[in-house]
Amino acid sequence: MENLDRVVILDFGSQYTQLIARRVREAGVYSEIHPCSIPAAELKALEPKAIILSGGPASVLDADSPTLDPEILSWGVPVLGICYGMQLLSHMLGGCISKATDREYGRADLELTGTTILFEGLRDADRHKVWMSHGDHVDAVPDGFSVVGCTASVPIAAMACPERKMWALQFHPEVAHTDDGTVILNNFLFKIAKVRPGWTMASFVESTVADLREKIGDARVICGLSGGIDSTVVALLLHKAIGKQLTCIFVDNGLLRAGEREEVIGYLEEHFDLNLVAVDAQERFLSRLVGEQDPEKKRKTIGYTFIEVFDEEAGKIENVKYLAQGTLYPDVIESVSFKGGPSVVIKSHHNVGGLPEKMNLSLVEPLRELFKDEVRKVAAELGLPDYIIWRHPFPGPGLAIRVIGEITPERLEILRQADRIVQQELHATDWYRKVWQGFAVLLPLKTVGVMGDDRTYEHVIALRIVDSLDAMTADWTRLPPEILARMSSRIINEVKGVNRVVFDISSKPPSTIEWE
Ligand code: XMP
Repeated sequence: MENLDRVVILDFGSQYTQLIARRVREAGVYSEIHPCSIPAAELKALEPKAIILSGGPASVLDADSPTLDPEILSWGVPVLGICYGMQLLSHMLGGCISKATDREYGRADLELTGTTILFEGLRDADRHKVWMSHGDHVDAVPDGFSVVGCTASVPIAAMACPERKMWALQFHPEVAHTDDGTVILNNFLFKIAKVRPGWTMASFVESTVADLREKIGDARVICGLSGGIDSTVVALLLHKAIGKQLTCIFVDNGLLRAGEREEVIGYLEEHFDLNLVAVDAQERFLSRLVGEQDPEKKRKTIGYTFIEVFDEEAGKIENVKYLAQGTLYPDVIESVSFKGGPSVVIKSHHNVGGLPEKMNLSLVEPLRELFKDEVRKVAAELGLPDYIIWRHPFPGPGLAIRVIGEITPERLEILRQADRIVQQELHATDWYRKVWQGFAVLLPLKTVGVMGDDRTYEHVIALRIVDSLDAMTADWTRLPPEILARMSSRIINEVKGVNRVVFDISSKPPSTIEWE
């Protein structure tokens, strides 16, 4: 991306750092995230047109809190500090920070108390909903700065020093809950830093392919290909970069949806000239899951077994150095705990971490910084058909985490048949495209019913159908009752062993999308 203007985001450990990068990409601007510890000389060599300091979980008042090479602030490159980034700017330049007694988390009303280009064009003249997530706050601004915004609990919620080309916000403009956050960020990028846009999905494909080619050289790569959009996009990017040095491995782990193996392999073979190996590992996966009820243990066992299968396949190919995966940013954020931050491991996503040392392969994860809807745009850029682009996400551990409790071939088959009906009914209307994900879950209990003159005592299926933008938050879909009714009556009539269907009406948070 040599001839594009570049914005550098320095990461202080916030959950939202990638979201800042995403907003910058949405503005058509090329950005890179670097650790806050980057030496000044290295950063200078990148010739950033603007620098954004992210938030972070630390307190600048703590002894070992992350900081910035002070030289960076002397260049006159426009700087925007967000949350921790604001506190750090203030701390480094002689302002005062007030130590938090409590964290403030959630929406607040921002009142504009001064004029700044940063706030030009906001919808409402002087009151704005903004998203706060912080402990400390700035108590006195450094010399030369003026206060341009406050909230009821934070007297200095925004500060500016145009002479030194520095602006800072206590709230998070990158979060959708901040009204006009995009306007604020775009003001910084275009009106203040005068960055020229030029970044597109085509440039993402071009630069990713070039990076992959350079990184991989003449080595060989194996790629776990599930047929979902993420792994298909990864495989196609690699295929463009290194052609037949790539071998894709499709693993039938016995936990796939009805007809999935035939569908995916048929599709891939028909459309792409990939080296594709299909491994039937059903027995190995299912035998290891016998008696296992604990969600995390299921996930770990499956993750480990995948690696084992890939390892064996890699052993059959000369000079394999890399394993490619379709890890997306929300997988990373939910599987990694930041030191002292609000994020803890919620669920182990089998495609993040867990790569045993013995495998001796490095990971290639070209989508690691993207969100799902961005991957869909890359897929369109690569010419993938709508059928793949709009496929609902399907988790690596497959149906194992939707058969709640014990996994047996019979229980898997009940779920598979119920799920087939859910997919059919969603496809029969345009709801498949409208929802983020829709699927069935088999519960670990039986209930009493009546069929004809007989009492039944059978399984319960839950329907989980959600709307979401990036899987980090989600809400249950207000699906028309007729569709729910059809799903319910078809499942009860057509799937032997089920006499009750319930609909999950929980949002994420506090629930998650998958049940395990
Ligand atoms: P949760 O249940 O954490 O799910 O709200 C968020 C999104 O991630 C998918 N998911 C996974 N995807 N490997 C994956 O590739 C996994 O282990 C995994 N677990 C959950 C889930 O389907 C939803 O779209």
